[in-house]
Amino acid sequence: MSNILILYASTEGQTARIAERIAQTLRKLGHAAQTQAADGLQADFEPATYDGLIVGASIHYGHHPAYLRPLVRRYRTALETRPSAFFSVSLSGGGPGAKPKAARRYLDVFLRQVGWRPQQAEMFGGALQFSKYGAFKRLLMVMIVGMAGGDTDTSRDYEYTDWAAVEDFSGSFAKRLGPPL
Ligand SMILES: Cc1cc2nc3c(=O)[nH]c(=O)nc-3n(C[C@H](O)[C@H](O)[C@H](O)COP(=O)(O)O)c2cc1C
Repeated sequence: MSNILILYASTEGQTARIAERIAQTLRKLGHAAQTQAADGLQADFEPATYDGLIVGASIHYGHHPAYLRPLVRRYRTALETRPSAFFSVSLSGGGPGAKPKAARRYLDVFLRQVGWRPQQAEMFGGALQFSKYGAFKRLLMVMIVGMAGGDTDTSRDYEYTDWAAVEDFSGSFAKRLGPPL
């Protein structure tokens, strides 16, 4: 059985939800798995205590959160010396008006910036959570999403994550670990 940490950076909660589904899937496969918000790490956090590490982050205004870059750089040795993976969450990654090339570019730019080449890197569609946005953000998102041909009814939220793809990603990761329980 391997002990896996899924470290995530989420603003409105969808990346956290995806991290939790990955953890659940790994647990079903017989491993120990837990999630941790990257902005809530303790000073004595030691990534080398885990057998495998997964990092996930969402895109806002064309970028993954800046605070994640120094963290990944700091933990690069641990990431490169055990099974590791990265996932990126965005509206470009799935849903109406998805732009897979843009989603891939966000992911590639981030990995280049931090100098990490994970064995596995994936893009997932995120969510439009109008109920969580303030007035300005809601208007901005209606304009941006509207131009891309997406959903603009602000009376509800939309989720575009392909959960089967998230489970496939988790299953592929599990195959690179030692034998389960
Ligand atoms: C203010 C704002 C800016 C965003 N900018 C982008 C963007 O530039 N490209 C993109 O593909 N998705 C963009 N998104 C969509 C988010 O990536 C998507 O909502 C994702 O589910 C957020 O994940 P989180 O809830 O874990 O933060 C943006 C969302 C918001 C609210």
